[in-house]
Amino acid sequence: MTVTIVGAQLGDEGKGGIVDVFGESADVVARYQGGDNAGHTVVHDGETYKLSLVPSGAVRGKVGVLGNGCVVNPATLFDEIDDLREMGLDPEVRLAKRAQVILPVHRFLDNVAEDVRSDDDLEVGTTGRGIGPTYEDKVGRRGVRVADLLDDECLRERLEYLLPLKRRLVEDVYGIDLASTDLAFDGFTAAEAFDVEAVFEQYRAYGERLAEEGMPVAAGEFLTDRIDAGERVMLEGAQGTLLDIDHGNYPFVTSSNPTAGYAATGSGLGVTTVGDGEVVGVVKAYLSRVGSGPMPTELGRNVELVDDVSEVEGDESAATEANPEPEDIATYIREEGGEYGTVTGRPRRVGWLDLPMLRHAARASGFTGFAVNHVDVLAGLETVRVGHSYDLDGETIETVPATTQRWGRCEPNLRSFEGWPEVDWDAVAAEGYDALHENARAYLEYVADEIDTPVYAIGLGAERDQTIVREHPFE
Ligand code: IMP
Repeated sequence: MTVTIVGAQLGDEGKGGIVDVFGESADVVARYQGGDNAGHTVVHDGETYKLSLVPSGAVRGKVGVLGNGCVVNPATLFDEIDDLREMGLDPEVRLAKRAQVILPVHRFLDNVAEDVRSDDDLEVGTTGRGIGPTYEDKVGRRGVRVADLLDDECLRERLEYLLPLKRRLVEDVYGIDLASTDLAFDGFTAAEAFDVEAVFEQYRAYGERLAEEGMPVAAGEFLTDRIDAGERVMLEGAQGTLLDIDHGNYPFVTSSNPTAGYAATGSGLGVTTVGDGEVVGVVKAYLSRVGSGPMPTELGRNVELVDDVSEVEGDESAATEANPEPEDIATYIREEGGEYGTVTGRPRRVGWLDLPMLRHAARASGFTGFAVNHVDVLAGLETVRVGHSYDLDGETIETVPATTQRWGRCEPNLRSFEGWPEVDWDAVAAEGYDALHENARAYLEYVADEIDTPVYAIGLGAERDQTIVREHPFE
């Protein structure tokens, strides 16, 4: 059986924690898209594990698979595995031979393209990990796959085709002189990133280490065999529905499909196998966003965020007063929820929960249940609001429009809920759903009704046992 975990919003919904909680019953945890742009956090026994590539099940000692739909930076992967080993874990990771490899040139191009787009205020706000350029080369049929790292002749051939092409793009189109730029990625200077020999030597060495550690597999066969043997597979989505290249707010999206349909394509499992299982949407009790793009329920929409935390606008303590300013509420939520990017450290934009977004997400992935995280973060606010619907060009709509331009014009119709107090969350988590304050329960039940999906879990803190499980998808 499979359980697929999907972000229902804009990423950072706390999927890592939910994978950790439900992953207890899984034998294998597989990622099916994205790469080290993801930042999944698992907190256990006071230890915080920050994972970008290794599937979150590693903390529980589950076999982790990076499926063919992923883009993999071997430098990050090995660093992460080494860090986890230093923390006392022994992650068992398998890597699809069909997965694409992120090369230094992809990171270089990601950063250069963002720079160029920013001249026209069109930057996406990418994580700079080379995700987009790697997927571009995948669909352009000129990428390097994991299996190529295991075959010298093939690797050299791929690089001899790809790197000169990229060099022409950078020099002739972007007009960059590689010798005089000081950008450097994964131990490669800009000039080395385009040098076939330098890249070949390093990446064949990565291939050797992958082979020595027994990591490369035909992921679809590997996972199907596990399912046939009666094992349980969890499919861990990264990013979120509104960052989906098809269903998100294009072009402010990532370059893959976090929605559940891709759990089959990106893992190599049959669509009927994934469809026979459960699909759990993960929702944060409010909304946050890293990077550009519309956000109709954003709090303090016109306040410019700065990277220096000490300069963050707003007065956190004023948020719990009777009529707080939106930016004070945003500051309160940002500080209480630690809303700073896991990968980039950037302060996240913050807003109220957006129901049109959740209706869109629930439909696009066919959620069978959902989990709501960070319910504790909103505690202490006198009033909690939710964007119930949008007003757009004189009409009221209940889901996300298909274009970013129209979405950007949406004004939210907010509903108000009485807030809930700060309490001993450990005690509430231990006692279960009925111990949750009635106002928090009213809020959750409203959301469940609106998206016509049951609440499987409620997150009240970062630790594993601070989650109330109402229904376990594997049971
Ligand atoms: P990319 O995936 O690095 O190309 O970034 C594209 C967009 O997705 C940017 O707005 C990023 O901030 C956003 N993004 C990518 N990964 C994550 C994530 O794991 N959480 C939240 N936002 C993300």
